[in-house]
Amino acid sequence: MSTLLITGGCGFIGSNFIRHLLHSDPSVSVINFDSLTYAGNLANLTDVSSHPLYTFVKGDITNREQVRAAMGRGVTDVIHFAAESHVDRSIQDSGPFVRTNVIGTQILLDAAREFGVKKYVQVSTDEVYGSLGADGFFTEETPLHPNSPYSASKAGADLLVQAYQHTFDLPAVITRCSNNYGPYQFPEKLIPLFVTNLLRDEPVPVYGDGQQVRDWIHVLDHCTGVEAAWRQGKPGEVYNFGGRCEKTNLDLTHLLLDLLGKPQTLIRYVKDRPGHDRRYAIDCTKAERELGWSPAWTFDRGIRDTIHWYQENEAWVTGIKNKDYLSYYESQYGHFS
Ligand code: NAD
Ligand code: DAU
Repeated sequence: MSTLLITGGCGFIGSNFIRHLLHSDPSVSVINFDSLTYAGNLANLTDVSSHPLYTFVKGDITNREQVRAAMGRGVTDVIHFAAESHVDRSIQDSGPFVRTNVIGTQILLDAAREFGVKKYVQVSTDEVYGSLGADGFFTEETPLHPNSPYSASKAGADLLVQAYQHTFDLPAVITRCSNNYGPYQFPEKLIPLFVTNLLRDEPVPVYGDGQQVRDWIHVLDHCTGVEAAWRQGKPGEVYNFGGRCEKTNLDLTHLLLDLLGKPQTLIRYVKDRPGHDRRYAIDCTKAERELGWSPAWTFDRGIRDTIHWYQENEAWVTGIKNKDYLSYYESQYGHFS
């Protein structure tokens, strides 16, 4: 029987991961440790909140005593999702990113050592590799070259994980995934922002020329990757995950307009993100070869399913859209409607 401490389980990917695990493995119990920032939402896990193998603990990874108390509940493994995750917010104020992503990770690593965990999984991102030109892919050997305060804080955390693995023999692995989409994603990120705006006939803000490329993967494919890294990953190793699904932001925007039957006049070109990375693309052959993982969702099926989810969960969207993040958004990119 494993007892997993899952940090950030009330966010987008963490909540999908917890649901996936509770539905697929009755020998695993889950402690969801989350401080409930603007991005953390208990409503993401309402359906499993009374599951006998599930416990929620409200706590902050930057608080050493709260982390130690949670670890003392018999934790055998740690899967670390908690982070400040939005690039635009890191450009506005990098403080919370350094605190949570770097210092929070250091505190979690200390606790993982102290409590002798069997496996520690650091959920990182392809953004630590920087930006690609028109050709090539990120492999696990690509040097770190983070460009935003967000990706710099994630790279700092990765280096700490590698140092703890090397120095203290901590059984840690790192995963680096490309852009996720799917249900429960906070509508500040491109796909949920655009889908929820379009469903209300509101305009969508395309940054700069819209020719930046992202490699899209369904969140449940990322979840099976993290699970495989936890179960089979070799300590000290890094595993990349991606969807082999590159799209420019503008092509993706047109696709969303088509699928929702909305006019192109809803596109608004707004000022570019400062330091905007041009292209991400992941080579995930190592994970396929060594973990037996591969993405199961086609983008066509995944995006239709995701749009359907946002259509069916209007109350979830309204609960979020009424909060103050929209005023933050407009202060950054202007009132685009
Ligand atoms: P998210 O912003 O949706 O959720 C983050 C969660 O962490 C929230 O529930 C929040 O309350 C919690 N949290 C934040 N600070 C905390 C703190 N100090 N203590 C405890 N909990 C805290 O993020 P996400 O999109 O689900 O991303 C999860 C992880 O996956 C992150 O580490 C991110 O860097 C990584 N990642 C995300 C993507 C993506 O496309 N979204 C891709 C690759 C990697
Ligand atoms: O690659 C993995 C990363 O993907 C994760 O580590 C991050 O946590 C996650 O937020 C995501 O980062 P991006 O910056 O790529 O995602 P975002 O959805 O913010 O933006 C996707 C692209 O769309 C990017 O080129 C910026 C652009 N964009 C975004 C928004 C929100 C727009 O043109 N308009 C928008 O309104």
